[in-house]
Amino acid sequence: MAPLIDDVAIGTSAPDRHLLRHAAGLLAASVPGVCRPLVAYGAERYDAFLARALTPPPAHRSLLLRGVTAGTELIAVADWRILPDALFLNGVAVRDDHRGRGIGTRILADGEAIATRLRLATMLLDVSLGNASAHRLYRRNGFTDTELSAWCWHEPHPGHDQPATAVTLIVDWASLWAQHDAYGFGDCSVRGLDGGIRTVRVVGDRVRAASAADAVVVSRALAIRDRPLRAYRIISDATAGQPFARFIRMRKQLR
Ligand SMILES: CC(C)(COP(=O)(O)OP(=O)(O)OC[C@H]1O[C@@H](n2cnc3c(N)ncnc32)[C@H](O)[C@@H]1OP(=O)(O)O)[C@@H](O)C(=O)NCCC(=O)NCCS
Repeated sequence: MAPLIDDVAIGTSAPDRHLLRHAAGLLAASVPGVCRPLVAYGAERYDAFLARALTPPPAHRSLLLRGVTAGTELIAVADWRILPDALFLNGVAVRDDHRGRGIGTRILADGEAIATRLRLATMLLDVSLGNASAHRLYRRNGFTDTELSAWCWHEPHPGHDQPATAVTLIVDWASLWAQHDAYGFGDCSVRGLDGGIRTVRVVGDRVRAASAADAVVVSRALAIRDRPLRAYRIISDATAGQPFARFIRMRKQLR
């Protein structure tokens, strides 16, 4: 019997934490191994983040978690994000013993129906360059390649051992700390001398930042300064040196 696609957690009642833990595990496994500890799916308490993100009534959520269940088991999950002008597939995974039966195709059709209902004319996703089967699935379903991005480690920064200076401000430190405490990952903004604002993401003790200096400031504040800095950046593939992962942004225009 074909399983139905439905919200993993519906309404404002407490989401089913058992299903959410499975969803978090499936989503983490969908990311290339080298990237897994760096992304939010790899955070210790991603299921707690999902539970919180699914608390508002469905019409007010920006995260839609769609699952396929067989009996009480979750066999596939899609994490859709509603952006101002697009529906973004943040992650999707089908349990390995259920692949090749059209579930991935149905999940994409379900996303298209959601986008249409929300009057979003564009669907977006990122796929790892080495993930041929997922890439085929997306192409077959009308997605086309746009730009390539590259993930590169930051070199150890000379300032890492030096006393902190006040040239970079962490703008929303308290909320980063609270998020990190609650979910194992979080975001903050840093502001440099030039007034430019840049986002920094922390997952565990890994930091994604535009520059090594930004990563040092945040990791120092998180008291992970005594460990080697594990920081990276995501840049356009054309400017990349030696990336450890590369992704293709894909797009589908609905009208
Ligand atoms: C990528 C992924 C989501 C696809 O899910 P899926 O349910 O296997 O997708 P589908 O079944 O719709 O399509 C997969 C294949 O099965 C074939 N297929 C689909 N329905 C079929 C059916 N009823 N009978 C036989 N074959 C079928 C498709 O033609 C396709 O063939 P291909 O591999 O030659 O392209 C799944 O492989 C997965 O979870 N991978 C690991 C996580 C991952 O990579 N996520 C994507 C991150 S961007």
